[in-house]
Parts: sequence; C-alpha cells; structure tokens
Amino acid sequence: MNEAAATAAPALSLSAVGLVHPNGQRALSRVSLAVAPGEQVAIIGPSGAGKTTLLRLAAAALRPTEGRVRLLDANPWQLGAGDLRRLRARVGVVHQAPPIPPQLRVVTAILAGRLGRWSTWKAIASLIYPADIAGAREVLARLELADRLFERCDRLSGGQLQRVGIARVLYQQPELLLADEPVSALDPALADAAIAQLIGHSEARGATLVASLHAVDLALKWFPRLVGMRAGEVVFDLPRREVSREMLAELYATEGGVLPTQANDPAVLAAGHGDGSPTVLPFTRSTRPGCR
Ligand SMILES: Nc1ncnc2c1ncn2[C@@H]1O[C@H](COP(=O)(O)OP(=O)(O)OP(=O)(O)O)[C@@H](O)[C@H]1O
Ligand SMILES: [Mg+2]
Repeated sequence: MNEAAATAAPALSLSAVGLVHPNGQRALSRVSLAVAPGEQVAIIGPSGAGKTTLLRLAAAALRPTEGRVRLLDANPWQLGAGDLRRLRARVGVVHQAPPIPPQLRVVTAILAGRLGRWSTWKAIASLIYPADIAGAREVLARLELADRLFERCDRLSGGQLQRVGIARVLYQQPELLLADEPVSALDPALADAAIAQLIGHSEARGATLVASLHAVDLALKWFPRLVGMRAGEVVFDLPRREVSREMLAELYATEGGVLPTQANDPAVLAAGHGDGSPTVLPFTRSTRPGCR
C-alpha cells in the first residue's frame, strides 16, 4: 500500500456491524474492518462463519442490522436510487455461482460488466451486436477461455461459468472488487491462475480487492492481509506473516483443526504443531500475471 492510500478514506469500512437474517439467525456480530484503497484482503474461516454475509453487506446487497457500512466513501443506505446505481457501477462482485441468465452468450455476459457505465443506447445496441468483442476476448483469454466467446452460458461447466464471472468483473474494471469464493469450482492450477489475475488487476489498477477463500493456502500465497472469521466474528485481522499455525488451527477447530487447502500443501496442513512460528509457505509469489 502506498502512503497516499494509507491516508485516503477507506475503500470499505464496517464499524461494529451486526446482521440478523429475517428468520432470526444472527450471522455477524460487532464486525469492524477498514480496507484502504488498493489493498488486497482475504477472508477465511469455516463454513457458516459469515464470509458471504460480510461480502453481501460490503456490496450493499444487505443492510446491516447494527453498525455502519461505508463504501467508496459513501453511505450506500443514504443514497437516492441514481447515486446508488452509480456507486454500484464502481463495485465489482464475483459470486461463487455467477447469476448469469442461461441463454446469454459468453461475450454478452462479459460486456454486461460495463452496462452500468454505458449509455442506455449503447447498452441496448450491445445486446444486438456486442460492442467490444475484442475486449471481451482479451479478458477471457486471461482465464484460458477465449475459445468459448460465443458459447451459450448454459453450455459451460460450473468451473467455466465461474471463470466467465471473473472475466466479467475484470472487464468491468471496478474500483472495489468483492469476490465470494471465486475459484471454488476450479482445479488447483486454474484456481491459482484466476486468483493471480484478480491480484494482478488490483495491483495494475490500484483497485481494492476483498475475497473470501475456502483454500487457506491460496489466501496465504496471494494476499498480504488475512481476516479470520468464525461464528460471525472477526477473530484475527493480520498481515500474512503474522498469521501463525496456531491461529489457523484454532480458526478451523470445529473442522478438527484440519485446514482446507486446494493443493494438499504439507506445510499448511502441518499447522497447529505448536511451535508458534509463523506459517511457512513452500511457494513464493515469483510468477506475475500479465495483467493490464
Ligand atoms: N439467507 C439467510 N437466511 C438465514 N440465515 C442465513 C442466510 N444466509 C446465511 N445465513 C446464516 O448466517 C450464517 C453465516 O452464513 P454465511 O453464508 O455468511 O457463511 P459463510 O462463511 O459464507 O459459509 P460458507 O463457507 O459455507 O459459504 C450461517 O449461520 C448461515 O446459516
Ligand atoms: Mg459463503
């Protein structure tokens, strides 16, 4: 993070946020989190910890029951419809299962990433004849899917559809990128490459990235800051190097201390051995994605 980013207003801030779902289920309690512009933060924790709920609050898709959410220096719940639409166009969301209409062609699904920024006429015209085929092909190529440009989305596998969701948000070029388990349906090599693209996009454009990840090894490899959540609360919020094996084992205690990983990584799986040393990574971030 550069100095300017450190002094700028947070891209995302949650202050003592709580959320109770309409059925009375409490999903979050007293969650406070500030993410500076350009930061990359991974949210990890066991199933039911509240990761998706937190990201939905951050995207202003859910309204907090308690506390305050600020998004790109605005309170989304005090904005009129037009201002809220403009704010949402600056935020990109990657869903675990992208909500893409099945009959849509891949190219149209990707170009939809910029609908919020295009004039109504350009948006309508693009439904008939895609406005920027080259741009859509370029982002798809980064996810090794360029050959599926004109495929219907209902003819794609779950993992391919997930990559279309990522391509769409890369095409959107948002200031704040929120991703909920964006690579859960991908094999280890593709998952690694897709996270590399999201990180590369954040670094190249100064965009803020907040992603929940099932795989602890991916979070440790790519994200400078990790937020551990359990039972609706933040249990740690630390630079990667300060996250110890004990903290990780404790976070996943309900899963028997076994850390979910995507690459069966022995160093990460050895967490909880009790010597208190920081988590040792068997890999380094030597490869950089060719992102623009
Ligand atoms: N729409 C909903 N209505 C009621 N309760 C919900 C709803 N969505 C989530 N919850 C509850 O809120 C809590 C947090 O759920 P959330 O989906 O945020 O967890 P998560 O960390 O994303 O889990 P996972 O790793 O399984 O995706 C859970 O107890 C869950 O049962
Ligand atoms: Mg979830």
